[in-house]
Amino acid sequence: MDGGVLGLVASGGGGVERWLRTGLAAPAAERGWRLAVTLTPTAARWLDEAGELEELAALTDLPVRWTSRLPSEPKPHPPPDCFVFAPATANSVVKLALGISDNQALTVLNEALGLPDVPVLVQPQSNEAQRRHPAWAGHLATLRAAGVLLVPEGGPGPVLAELDRVRRAMILPTGSDLV
Ligand SMILES: Cc1cc2nc3c(=O)[nH]c(=O)nc-3n(C[C@H](O)[C@H](O)[C@H](O)COP(=O)(O)O)c2cc1C
Repeated sequence: MDGGVLGLVASGGGGVERWLRTGLAAPAAERGWRLAVTLTPTAARWLDEAGELEELAALTDLPVRWTSRLPSEPKPHPPPDCFVFAPATANSVVKLALGISDNQALTVLNEALGLPDVPVLVQPQSNEAQRRHPAWAGHLATLRAAGVLLVPEGGPGPVLAELDRVRRAMILPTGSDLV
């Protein structure tokens, strides 16, 4: 758990209930990330039905979230050092580009876009019809301009590869090994 806090966010893209934990969360935890997991309500329903929520929760000392906190409650997650949003449905990509925060997953992601020095990796998972929507390219351009690192589709492999690259870049400049 000494590798920093990873804000791991997932939405209701096909297969998320099969690969989020085994393909992405567990390997990230093995790499030393402390996981702060937030799901869209759709993803939470799917993972719940698949019996994955408890297994996911077992990978981290932080609660797995999909609802907002009450005003009287403390923030359940510390501020992440890096965010991964995978899979990112067409619906959630559009909302992120527009700054819409109508669930907890989008709330944390929209805030993250405004934080300096916090990498945000997003892996859109959309079909051809969704990509042909006239506004789609513009939404991706908005996210790119905001500094989002867009990861090509292909499941958790490309996400982990980009996360490893980002982490090396995050750790190298601190130079603790130079002392
Ligand atoms: C089995 C199934 C698979 C789906 N896969 C995708 C997908 O890969 N990408 C996508 O954009 N939407 C997909 N959808 C539609 C989204 O789940 C739907 O738009 C939902 O409202 C997304 O909510 P969220 O972005 O808040 O998670 C799928 C729906 C179902 C029922």
